[in-house]
Amino acid sequence: MTAGSSTGSGTTDRRVRIYEVGPRDGLQNEATAVATADKRRFIELLVASGIREIEATSFVSPRAIPQLADADELLPSLERRPGVRYPVLVPNERGLDRAVSAGADALAVFTAASSAFTERNIGMTVDESLAAFAPLLARAGDLGWWRRAYVSTAFGCPYTGRIEPSAAIDVARRLRELGADEICFGDTIGVAVPDQVAELTGLAGDADLVPASLAYHFHDTRGTALANVAAGLAAGVRCFDAASGGTGGCPYAPGAAGNLATEDLVYLLDASGWEHGVRLEGVLEAARFIAGVLGHPLATKVGQAGGWDPATGAPTGRVSTA
Ligand code: COA
Ligand code: ZN
Repeated sequence: MTAGSSTGSGTTDRRVRIYEVGPRDGLQNEATAVATADKRRFIELLVASGIREIEATSFVSPRAIPQLADADELLPSLERRPGVRYPVLVPNERGLDRAVSAGADALAVFTAASSAFTERNIGMTVDESLAAFAPLLARAGDLGWWRRAYVSTAFGCPYTGRIEPSAAIDVARRLRELGADEICFGDTIGVAVPDQVAELTGLAGDADLVPASLAYHFHDTRGTALANVAAGLAAGVRCFDAASGGTGGCPYAPGAAGNLATEDLVYLLDASGWEHGVRLEGVLEAARFIAGVLGHPLATKVGQAGGWDPATGAPTGRVSTA
């Protein structure tokens, strides 16, 4: 940990990182193929809004996720700017080779708190996935890459139900030992409530996983995502995932609905005085764009209502989802 960075709950640090997953988690479950040029435009609009971390695509089997089969073409086509990071999902050595060839410099590996889920998602038990990721995280570390690790189904599994926090923390601790810079707990099917977020964050801290090294990935399936963000903030976590337009879902997680919409997250953070460097109008523009490409209504509250100008009382920048 560097000097001056936050050290956990009670921190006075008002900076929050918004980690955009729209181009990856948001699109991976969409039935209609999105053109590579449209993905690139979406990402350009996200960068223009001020977002600095955008999970751009996945180097997974194109059979598993056909929508992201163009990763080898998309990633090298993105304009590189100082301070902008495009992490990519990597499940195995083959995926890492592809990511290296495409010029990646940040990766995310992904396992879960439940083997029933990982077996369907990546064809491995949790233990097998950790064994498979060890050399990937080591090689990415040698390359100087930033490394994130997901613990999906951290609160609940679509196949086995409730997840004990200790199970999620055990996986997180092992990923940290393998070199992950950031652990992201995923509420893949959107079942968590704020008390559970507070509990998991507290127990993680007891296991030396300080809040500043964690991120949360909430799906808004049951309308609890923003409340969960508030609980994470209160517990000292400073990185949250979101997808502009509220797209998303995992094909291997039945019942998973959209990610927390980035515009909803930005609205909450703005109104509460958190610093994040992202312009709501810019996010709404990106959300409008992807809504037009997908051609179906999106799950976004601020996108439907618009932002709100407290000086006039008027809404700003609605996303048309007609
Ligand atoms: N990139 C491209 N192709 C890949 C690949 C990769 N990273 N990994 C495997 N493949 C190909 C293999 O070549 C093989 O192709 P073939 O059938 O044409 O010969 C096929 O995919 C199956 O490979 P195999 O090694 O047997 O793996 P698997 O079938 O057990 O699948 C994963 C394992 C991890 C590759 C696959 O489950 C996967 O990509 N899952 C990702 C799921 C995901 O992204 N979920 C959403 C995120 S939460
Ligand atoms: Zn997700």
